[in-house]
Amino acid sequence: MTLDNIEKIASYIVSEGKGILAADESNPTCGKRFDTIGVENIESNRRDYREMLFRSSGLKGNIGGVILFDETLRQNAKDGTPLIDIMNAEGALPGIKVDKGLVPIQDGSEEVITKGLDGLDERLKEYTAIGAKFTKWRAVIKIGDGMPTDKCIDGNADALAEYAKLAQNNGLVPIVEPEILMDGHHTIEQSFDASSRALASLFNSLKNKDVNLKGVLLKPSMVTPGSDATTKASVDDVANMTLKSLKENVPAEVPGITFLSGGQTEVEATEHLDAMNKIGGFEWKLSFSYGRALQAGALKAWSGDAENVFIAQDILSHRAKMNNLAAQGKWDKGLEEDF
Ligand code: 13P
Repeated sequence: MTLDNIEKIASYIVSEGKGILAADESNPTCGKRFDTIGVENIESNRRDYREMLFRSSGLKGNIGGVILFDETLRQNAKDGTPLIDIMNAEGALPGIKVDKGLVPIQDGSEEVITKGLDGLDERLKEYTAIGAKFTKWRAVIKIGDGMPTDKCIDGNADALAEYAKLAQNNGLVPIVEPEILMDGHHTIEQSFDASSRALASLFNSLKNKDVNLKGVLLKPSMVTPGSDATTKASVDDVANMTLKSLKENVPAEVPGITFLSGGQTEVEATEHLDAMNKIGGFEWKLSFSYGRALQAGALKAWSGDAENVFIAQDILSHRAKMNNLAAQGKWDKGLEEDF
């Protein structure tokens, strides 16, 4: 298939159980990850780490796209090969995070809005020329006392839609990511309510801006209780409530929904995805765009030592394969024990 338009690119990324490797940590966030393994946050270490990930054999057939940070899109491997050539050779398309982080919606507010629309069109043109095929913009929505407000939900939805339209005008698939943060004591019902409001507002804004929904990927959080909630939820509860929120708000033309992991463990993120695909009853592909839930084990195993590259790559390959199966409802817990 020639990937010569946004609809084909979006469908390709989520075809046959494929999903996305989110490796777009900004340099400060990469520093936080490296702190956990005692590795210095310098350009050559970031390059070696990403090169290790992108040369993993398990990308092929399991990963349709990789989201990158600006530095990585322009970076070469140790032997001089552009990192984007390495992933392209494995069938994983390069994508780029284009937002510029978060600012309070107004002075003193705990709620945030994502910035980055200034100069975005020029940046998108440059990224297209370098070889990016898709883009990501992340909005963050917090649950708490009186939060989220409509102002936060609608302001972020409008920014997501404006970004999505610009990305499509430049021939790039926009990933729209309204992340409901897991941090807090909230119940799964509060998470369901926030998720449904955010999705309704987002698709209303996308429609108003005339965004082509067949050339968009949605990256939502799953509906879960807060990480400090007293009542935990079962896998079935998470799967059913997430699907209910999506089915009520996401039009069938959207080709793929690729979840973020948001602080779930690697196996939890796989298990929830598999449970939803086993339930079924939807037209979009339901897949993954995990950062921590794909990388955590590989990062730890690597620990900055070239001798650990193969074992770290095996761990990432295994997770990519497990999530590919989960995106088709074919995963089984026993497959984790054999590894
Ligand atoms: P996590 O899967 O670690 O939440 O990261 C995904 C991501 O890209 C967040 O923007």
